[in-house]
Amino acid sequence: MPAIGVAALAKDHLVFFSPSGKRERFPEGTTVLEAARRLGVDLDSVCGGRGICGRCQIVPTEGANPKLGIKSAADHVSPWNAVEARYADKRGALEAGRRLGCQAKVCGDLVIDVPADSQVHRQVVRKRAEAYPVKVDPLVHLHYVEVREPDMHDPSSDFRRLQEALAAQWGLADIHADTAVLKGLQKALRAGDWKVTAAIRKGRDLVALFPGFRDTLRGLAVDIGSTTIAAHLCDLVTGDVLASSGLMNPQIRFGEDLMSRVSYVMMNPGGDAEMTAAVRGALQELAAAVAAEAGIGTDEILEVTVVGNPIMHHLFLGLDPTELGGAPFALTVDGGLEVPAREVGLSLAPGAFVYTLPCIAGHVGADTAGVVLSEGPHLKDEVTLLVDVGTNAEIVLGNRHRLLACSSPTGPAFEGAQIASGQRAAPGAIERLRIDPETLEPRFRVIGSDLWSDDAGFPEATAKTGVTGICGSGIIEAVAEMLLAGLVTPDGIVDGTLAARTPRIVAEGRTFAYVIREADASGPRIAVTQGDIRAIQLAKAALYAGIRLLMDHYGAPSLDRITLAGAFGSHIDVKYAMILGLIPDCDLAAVGSAGNAAGTGARIALLNKASRAEIEEVVRRIEKIETALEPAFQAHFVGAMAIPHKSDPFPHLEAALGRVFARGTAPGEPGEGGRGERRRRRG
Ligand code: FES
Repeated sequence: MPAIGVAALAKDHLVFFSPSGKRERFPEGTTVLEAARRLGVDLDSVCGGRGICGRCQIVPTEGANPKLGIKSAADHVSPWNAVEARYADKRGALEAGRRLGCQAKVCGDLVIDVPADSQVHRQVVRKRAEAYPVKVDPLVHLHYVEVREPDMHDPSSDFRRLQEALAAQWGLADIHADTAVLKGLQKALRAGDWKVTAAIRKGRDLVALFPGFRDTLRGLAVDIGSTTIAAHLCDLVTGDVLASSGLMNPQIRFGEDLMSRVSYVMMNPGGDAEMTAAVRGALQELAAAVAAEAGIGTDEILEVTVVGNPIMHHLFLGLDPTELGGAPFALTVDGGLEVPAREVGLSLAPGAFVYTLPCIAGHVGADTAGVVLSEGPHLKDEVTLLVDVGTNAEIVLGNRHRLLACSSPTGPAFEGAQIASGQRAAPGAIERLRIDPETLEPRFRVIGSDLWSDDAGFPEATAKTGVTGICGSGIIEAVAEMLLAGLVTPDGIVDGTLAARTPRIVAEGRTFAYVIREADASGPRIAVTQGDIRAIQLAKAALYAGIRLLMDHYGAPSLDRITLAGAFGSHIDVKYAMILGLIPDCDLAAVGSAGNAAGTGARIALLNKASRAEIEEVVRRIEKIETALEPAFQAHFVGAMAIPHKSDPFPHLEAALGRVFARGTAPGEPGEGGRGERRRRRG
């Protein structure tokens, strides 16, 4: 509360802050920053009112506001002063009408606008319409202080005097620093001529001490995938991503997939330590890369957040992942963890901390927690399905009332493995494919070119990359288009009778394949084989069965929204994913990709401290369903082997396509074996 003395009453003025709507009377001469602080108005400051940082900019508005009963004017604050002139001279002129709140003193009634860029807690509006905005409210803040010099007559330590300065100038009592930070303390104080900027975490821990004034606050959000590791350097003031970089996960040399890495640990004593060192080394390399891109040192990275699947999570933290290799898939720890960065081998700001998001279950990791934090199904009424498709699909379903999660072993088919012409998503890979239902001729697009294969200029446009194989999104479209063209039955059988209509159907032993292209100078022969279709059926049936299991548990006959996360999710065309029966029926307008939602979750946890408690609370109440223990999983799996499904309805999809799907028979059941599609009767 403002101190309103009797003597001051005569010269009190009413100050109203917008947009907070907070108001109070203040004695003449109070700075606008001081008034804002007393009212708890969100007005930033790093320099503590010294006119150095420029974070406290405000706009005294002009004119009468009858509703508020205030007549405000620009000259109801003290005139432009020498400190502001010095600031403008050094850092550039302020926008018209703006003043430094720490310099402008109240001398009349005022309506003060606090621009968004002067608020500590800014909102970061995300690009996707359905994504909720994030409030920037990090754990680390910067505080500029002037520290008393040492004195023979006052034998207090440098740290003691820094503590006193922080207490006196910022109200920060009992600041703690460990030896890693104390090591550089004396140098920083002297280099800054006793003026330093302290990065303080949780109002308690000294993370770093910079000589002189510093107003850049940086953090790193990391997504450790089994294949790639991505890092985003973020501005903890604006919420902007300043630089991003990715690396192949060097653990690949110990095993392509997660289980082979766990096996490596089991077979090789010390194998976990090797993999831990590899992932930490990669993370340090990434930190250096993004810091260099942003023109800062790694010692300016003050906080890190990490997401990853349970095995990556454990290996990064130096925890043995052996138990995650088999039932009952017990995690060492499932809550969010805060550890000093140097304890996990990272050389960043000396007192920096790393926060790992919580794991949901032995198969559903901190990466999925990141997806949940990013997409916020726990904030919505609509029943949302979140799917992160990898070799192990992680699935979350529900809404604000209830959330369930499971994982399903989809295998690597969607990543192009186990597919005859399959490859990873890389330049030259077929990612889009259409088949003319009359001629049965394909046309396709490859990663690296926007042209279709029947466009003029395609050979030139792909001369560099060639046409090298088919990636996950390509194989999904290929199988779905083959169904639509009648080349494959709902049971997933390549229809050999069509060899009479097209030379592209060729016999391969006792089954048939569809040839997309023959080998030529630009690349190998690419075909979809019966084995490929079976591999895709197994993968998609595993995913679909997991989803249906969660729908059963929830009691949701249908879904309001489906969001696909992860790199794969952002490449696939959701319509084709549905035609294939990878996901259940849903209004196509409510099916979309969230891109790297796990990484976004890490970024949110970096920017907003409250989000950490939020995701930990949400994860605790997510019901974990173990697919292996559920008899219904097998029944769902069998039904889902058909394309799109043996019996589940797809009304939205059928309406969108203007056709009705024939139903397949499960493998082993007597099948119709013929052409699977029939046109919807009209009229
Ligand atoms: S508080 Fe730093 S310039 Fe005003």
